[in-house]
Amino acid sequence: MYQGVASDETPATSDEYMKEFEVKKTILDLFGKSGGGFVSGEEISDRLGFSRAYAWKYINKLRDEGYVFEAIPHKGYKLRSSPDKIYGYDLSRGLDTKIIGKRNVYHYEKTGSTNDKAYELAEKGEPEGAIIIAETQTRGKGRMGREWISPGGGGMYFSLILRPGVAPDRIPAITLIASMSVVKAIKSVCGLDAQLRWPNDILLGQKKICGILTEIKAQPDMVDFLVLGVGLNVNTDLSRLPRIATSLKAENGAPVNRLELLKCILTELEKDYSVFITDGFTPLRGRYKRVSSVLGRHIRIKERDLLIEGKAVDVDEKGALIVKTVSGTLRRVFSGDVTLCRKV
Ligand code: BTN
Repeated sequence: MYQGVASDETPATSDEYMKEFEVKKTILDLFGKSGGGFVSGEEISDRLGFSRAYAWKYINKLRDEGYVFEAIPHKGYKLRSSPDKIYGYDLSRGLDTKIIGKRNVYHYEKTGSTNDKAYELAEKGEPEGAIIIAETQTRGKGRMGREWISPGGGGMYFSLILRPGVAPDRIPAITLIASMSVVKAIKSVCGLDAQLRWPNDILLGQKKICGILTEIKAQPDMVDFLVLGVGLNVNTDLSRLPRIATSLKAENGAPVNRLELLKCILTELEKDYSVFITDGFTPLRGRYKRVSSVLGRHIRIKERDLLIEGKAVDVDEKGALIVKTVSGTLRRVFSGDVTLCRKV
């Protein structure tokens, strides 16, 4: 089952959307396979099992979404360009994963928060791997009850539903794994070396490029589901972001293909997530530590009302940060905001 383009007014759960998603994906697949060449109206209608007039209707729907087709009599159609949107039928084509982002892709032009949408869907039984994407969010949520500024025109906002079947205390490690997949994808798509500020802020230089918010529904000993929300400043203009933030476009000097970047994040995430499910965080821990900008540094952590100062010495197999305080005691910290300091 695949889902299509949705809006808050027209949920992506209707049969109409599901059918439309499949049809559009089939048409775009045909153009993909033509290698930039012409596809005849007959080929399209044969593949869909529809009349030429009906196939034409869907070509026009794609045109309305920003796909540009050239039509030449007796030759057919050529796909000239695709819109800069992360539509599900473009995402799932050529995506090298088994579950994540392959099925049940929901795309919203605008929504309150993709995490809220994902949570609602997960409560209704949405399967693992479903992804909710928005071009803009009106109530984007950050960690610690903060707002996540989510302007349209180049940001990436998505939430994944995962059902890892583990105890709640293993969830922080999944968030760390997700942040590693973003760092790896940024390196392979843009060639930039991002760093992680524990637990999961992703920075370029000293500026924030990406944040991750994980929300769970759990029993005392087992997680029902987890919603992993990622906000990434890809092509966003700096004028629309807080001063502590930057965007990939600003750092890279050129716009970045969001679809390619998202495919890369999901591929990396699925690889590491399956390692985690079978062997836990231990085999992945070394890699997390290598991209951490916090380990070995003197830090201050604000964990709700508590302020902890000391040297960040390790990240354990549960994803907790181990801090050696001034008095020499080791503290395990599970969440909080880290600031780097000069000296304790
Ligand atoms: C942070 O504070 O660093 C976490 C920010 C997480 C933002 C993302 S954007 C997609 C998803 N939907 C939300 O409302 N929040 C997360």
